[in-house]
Order: sequence, then structure tokens, then C-alpha cells
Amino acid sequence: MSRITNGAAIRLRDVYKTYQMGGAEVAALRGVDVDIRTGEFVAIMGPSGSGKSTLLHVLGLVDTEYDGRYELGDQVVSGHTADDLAELRNREIGFVFQAFFLLPQLSILDNAALPALYARNRSPDDCRAEARARLQEMGLGDRLEHRPQELSIGQRQRAAIARALVNQPRVILADEPTGSLDSKTAREILDIFADLHSRGATIVMVTHDHEVAASAERVIHVRDGQVHG
Ligand SMILES: Nc1ncnc2c1ncn2[C@@H]1O[C@H](COP(=O)(O)OP(=O)(O)OP(=O)(O)O)[C@@H](O)[C@H]1O
Ligand SMILES: [Mg+2]
Repeated sequence: MSRITNGAAIRLRDVYKTYQMGGAEVAALRGVDVDIRTGEFVAIMGPSGSGKSTLLHVLGLVDTEYDGRYELGDQVVSGHTADDLAELRNREIGFVFQAFFLLPQLSILDNAALPALYARNRSPDDCRAEARARLQEMGLGDRLEHRPQELSIGQRQRAAIARALVNQPRVILADEPTGSLDSKTAREILDIFADLHSRGATIVMVTHDHEVAASAERVIHVRDGQVHG
């Protein structure tokens, strides 16, 4: 992978994404430019179907089938396959989803340790120690051996955030992380993101909530697969 230096966390240039649906084509991203600076907290807003999740999946190296240029830190990642990028994604990207996606058969300690275990650069004991520390920061130190379904919804999302942080990623991507939560629990989760940001994290969050967007430093508006502002 070629390396460059521009100081930005993320830089997308002229990104196009088209889904093939049977015979039809859906143009989900149509010439998108995005710049995210290191340490920035950016909200992504836009109507349903406008391309927000598609954009986040491109940013998260989950979807690599697009046209255009993507630079993540000092690396050009466009033109590489998802398989090529799996290791980089695991190390550099922390993903938080609306639906948590915790593995139900594992304790939250094991869930949170998984990305660290995949990275294979630390011993299993160190991975668990790191996961324990992140879960303790999320106020879950007394719930480590619980399975996800034995936790409240807010606790599940906090466990998912701990998992997203376990490899100290370059950027945290969140797709409507409060979309499944009541307003009080949503507030708690947003406070966690605000705290992470104040400690230097780079965060890109899709949200429908104007209050949430107001707590971000900048809002990227997506409409019909294009970015405004
Ligand atoms: N896997 C897919 N196959 C085909 N079309 C898709 C696929 N995923 C998304 N699309 C289409 O691409 C467009 C953008 O979808 P996307 O999920 O990015 O929207 P969104 O802004 O996240 O919407 P929402 O707010 O409802 O989550 C939509 O028209 C959608 O129907
Ligand atoms: Mg979406």
C-alpha cells in the first residue's frame, strides 16, 4: 500500500458507489469528497436512503467495492480488497452499530477482547486485560462475565463501545448508536462519545437527532448520495 503524509485522519475524493439490484442500479454515493481531521467529531445527517450507512461502510473499510480515492491516515486504501484490508480495519477502525452486534454466546469481556485477539499482536491475557480496562471505563467492571442478553440495552451499547476501543483505533465510526435507546440512555451514550472526543478520539457518527448533531463539531449533510457542507 502506498504511503502519503497529509495529517488528515480520512480523505475521500470523488467516491462513487453503485449497488446492483437484479437488473437495476442504485447510485448510493455520487461523487463524494470527505475530509476528517484527526481529533475531529463529525456528525453525518440526511434523509433515509440518502447514503449515510453506505458512506460509513466505505469509511470503515467494510465496503471496498467503490470507485474513487480513499486515504486513511498516510495510506491509500482504495483499490485494495476487503481481505487485504481486514487487518488494517481491525486495528484502525472502531465500529459501533445501532444494533450492537455483540455475540450472544460470549461474555462481554470476551466480546470486547475479540478485536484484540484477532490482531494477534498481544497475548490473550493482555487482550483480556485491555478489554477489562475498557469495560471498566464504561462502568461495566462488575458485569464482565455477563452475556449481552443479561445486560440492559444501554449496558450493551457501552460494551460494544468498549469493543470498538480495544485496539485503540485511529477513528471511531458509529451508525445511529443511540437509535435503539430511550432518551435517557441515549444521553448517557452520547456523553461517552463526548468524553472520548475530549480525550482526543476521532469520531464520525451517523444520526437523525439534531441535538446529537449539535454536540458534534461539524455536520456533513448527505442527500441523494452527495455531500453538502
Ligand atoms: N445492499 C444493498 N443493495 C442494494 N441497494 C442498497 C443496499 N444497501 C443500500 N442500498 C440502497 O442505497 C441507498 C442508500 O442506502 P443507505 O443504507 O446508505 O441509506 P441511509 O442514508 O443509511 O438510510 P437510513 O437513514 O434509512 O439508514 C438506498 O437507496 C438503498 O436502498
Ligand atoms: Mg443507514
